[in-house]
Amino acid sequence: MSLKRILVTGGLGFIGSETVIALLKEGYEPIVVDDLYNAKEVVLDRIETISGRHPLFYKIDCCDERALEAAFKENELDAVIHFAGYKAVGESVAKPTKYYSNNLGSALTVLRLCNRYRIHSIVFSSSATVYGVPERVPLFETDPLRDATNPYGETKVMIERILRDAAKADPTLNVALLRYFNPIGGHPSGLLGEDPNGIPNNLMPYICQVAVGKLPYLRVYGDDYKTPDGTGVRDYIHVVDLAEGHVATLKKLEKDPGLVVYNLGTGKGTSVLELVRAFEKANGIEIPYKIEARRPGDVDMNYANCDKAFRELGWKARLTIEDACRDAYNFQKKNPNGIE
Ligand code: UFG
Repeated sequence: MSLKRILVTGGLGFIGSETVIALLKEGYEPIVVDDLYNAKEVVLDRIETISGRHPLFYKIDCCDERALEAAFKENELDAVIHFAGYKAVGESVAKPTKYYSNNLGSALTVLRLCNRYRIHSIVFSSSATVYGVPERVPLFETDPLRDATNPYGETKVMIERILRDAAKADPTLNVALLRYFNPIGGHPSGLLGEDPNGIPNNLMPYICQVAVGKLPYLRVYGDDYKTPDGTGVRDYIHVVDLAEGHVATLKKLEKDPGLVVYNLGTGKGTSVLELVRAFEKANGIEIPYKIEARRPGDVDMNYANCDKAFRELGWKARLTIEDACRDAYNFQKKNPNGIE
């Protein structure tokens, strides 16, 4: 089976846009869908600057079945990579209905349309959050899914279950559930990167805004975790590596279809303070910080075992934390007010 024309929902976002670049580089034909809720249309021009190609774009909310159907009808699609979704953990606690409606609604719409238009391959943007509060690390794909600590995470667990059931009911449906750990970094050109609205929730964009003086200091949420230096440990993966993981997954589905689950991380845990130091070293800049109280819902440690992805996809992360720190800062400096 050859997969060529790939619908990429949420294709102008942080991970989606980088994946579109990776797909173009490998000769795939991405067709981008995004409702611009959390992305800018100008990202298309930046994709063109980097790749020399301007992908076909639909400004569509994936919950709008009639609008999304047009993208299916007008293109002979071979596969869908479904990134589109709301992702702010804190907001999901305050507005659960918004998160369940949008994230489940868009996934179900994509699934219905894949069924109607006989698209047999779906790659889903899942998350390490499906492991909930881990009993031990590293996390293996065979570890149990636990109650997620917030509605956002719960939508990832639910969508994984929906896709599994769909694959069980239809043996011709191939599903890849990709569990991302903590994506950071940006395109080395400085043209694409993480562009959060308002004050960043996640560590790396926060550090970047401190680095350029937009925020006075980093708040380190807790130094009394059960970790070597007391600060939280995560598995930070460069977004370019993560994007390449999607291409490797499509290649796997082409020759060996079925239902597959992969952790996409580096296999290595890094603490908050280690990331701060790596950032300082990579960019020759000091990051002031203050230790503050723990953030509710945070876990001590979360990192992946990624052997399965290497064994079955031939993929592993090759870029370092320093590479990611350099690329994230480069993006921040070139886009002081985000992508405009
Ligand atoms: N942290 C700080 N200060 C900040 C922000 C974060 O100290 O300003 C700490 C957190 O306490 C945590 C670490 O930095 O120890 C990473 O926090 P992030 O918010 O960057 O990332 P999380 O691990 O909390 O969450 C990320 C994604 C979620 C996803 C989860 C999967 O944001 O979407 O990984 O495990 F669900």
